[in-house]
Amino acid sequence: MEAIWAAIGPMAEKAFFVVGGLIGLTVALIFSKMMIFRIASWYLIILLVFASYTTWLPQIRGDAPADAVAIDLSATTPEQLADMGKMIIFGTDNPEAVLTGGGNPAGKGQCPLCHQFFLDQKADRCPNLVALPSAPDERLRVPEEVRSHNRFKEDRYKSFAAKLSGGETNSGIKPHANTGGEYLIESEYCPNCYVVEGFAIKGTNDSESPMPIISKPPIELSDTEIVSVVSFLQSKDTPGDFSKVTARESWESYFGKKLDVAPPPAPGAIQVAEGPKIAMQDDTPDQIVEKMGCFACHKIPGIALAKIGMIGPLLIEGVNAPNRIKSKEYKAAVKAGKANARTPKEYVMESIMKPDAFIVPGFQDDMLKDFSTKFTFAALEKMAEYLLQQDEAAAIRDGMDRLPNELEGPLKVPGGGGTASLSGPPPKRLSAHPVGRGESGG
Ligand code: HEC
Ligand code: HEC
Repeated sequence: MEAIWAAIGPMAEKAFFVVGGLIGLTVALIFSKMMIFRIASWYLIILLVFASYTTWLPQIRGDAPADAVAIDLSATTPEQLADMGKMIIFGTDNPEAVLTGGGNPAGKGQCPLCHQFFLDQKADRCPNLVALPSAPDERLRVPEEVRSHNRFKEDRYKSFAAKLSGGETNSGIKPHANTGGEYLIESEYCPNCYVVEGFAIKGTNDSESPMPIISKPPIELSDTEIVSVVSFLQSKDTPGDFSKVTARESWESYFGKKLDVAPPPAPGAIQVAEGPKIAMQDDTPDQIVEKMGCFACHKIPGIALAKIGMIGPLLIEGVNAPNRIKSKEYKAAVKAGKANARTPKEYVMESIMKPDAFIVPGFQDDMLKDFSTKFTFAALEKMAEYLLQQDEAAAIRDGMDRLPNELEGPLKVPGGGGTASLSGPPPKRLSAHPVGRGESGG
């Protein structure tokens, strides 16, 4: 409302002035008997009309549209930040509608791929971030905002801080949150700084988080965007009350510097595409992986984005798919009437369309369930064929390895006795520490 008045106010003043002037002059024109007054009045009327036209015109054309979000944080209210955070998390301001339509509302931040925001959303392998009031499990009724005030006081937090006092490997950050707000900020920049018990990558001794660093590629939110996401988390469960939104101050106290006001975004930059995303026939495998968010959970050789996923298996389906079909676990699923792939290609397509037909041993049923509504058949075939071309050599070439919980064990470097992770320095964007070594006994 304020913004509308700010825009209309000056115009209204001008209109008042111009209309008033016009009425006055018209009266003068009608009643004046003197020629000189008539001419002067006409002249003034024409002048006024012109003046008003030329001052209004550029305003109407040149002003930024009222709904463009300019990121001048000094002028941004907690409410505006929270609204921006909502768009970044869900990609829409009406996530319920997307959910009802059978989709999973996930925006640029990708959080809903893993975190549960709604009761009927399948993504429960990660802590809930907002309260789910009617959840049977009472822990799910507690929002992250409430939890955040206790996390950094836990002994578990202190033991992470002690262990990582030299800086966590991937982020360089030393755990040092002193408030709930700082804990939330830290969680985005350094998921390994504190890993919620029971949610670590299996086989990492409860110490490594499968959550990607949100400030780094491929999700790569800006500082301002992270502050807005945290603002949303801090206000979601107190509708209309933004008194708990400390994100900006917490960011500044956590990093000990002023939050750089992000330069104004390129037009459309922070607007996230709305509506259901569909993988189309003409999309490349890279585009499909990006649109569908596969990269949040899987590593896939040859796909630049897909180097960080630590929730699902390394997708070298040229090797995996034929072995799966032959496995006794898969045969049991076929017998039980759940699975029915006979070829590797059918297996991969089934994995994407019906993820619960068969759960890869060592994993849980954590894959999203809505891909069947988001792929055209041609796109599905293309994705399956791409994955089937990937094998161990391709993964090793890209510095990728299996997760510790993959029963196959770490990849072997051809010729040598070592594991793939010893084959050279890990690529820059990959975690600086290779996964899959050591603990799994390989
Ligand atoms: C690939 C899956 C994945 C994505 C995507 C993801 N997270 Fe997480 N997140 C996790 C897991 C698993 C945990 C629990 C382990 C841990 O503590 O790091 C977690 C933990 C957290 C925590 C700490 C929870 C607690 O109770 O202490 C916060 C806060 C959080 N995530 C916020 C976010 C936000 C905000 C986003 C989106 C910008 C996001 N996450 C994206 C998987 C994910
Ligand atoms: C939220 C995390 C998540 C996302 C997003 C996700 N997956 Fe998965 N995926 C998993 C998990 C966990 C498994 C193993 C459990 C199972 O079999 O369902 C899996 C299994 C698979 C398998 C079977 C792998 C094997 O070796 O047997 C394939 C193929 C697959 N996913 C492809 C995809 C593709 C393609 C996408 C994107 C369109 C995708 N996944 C998105 C988590 C995810």
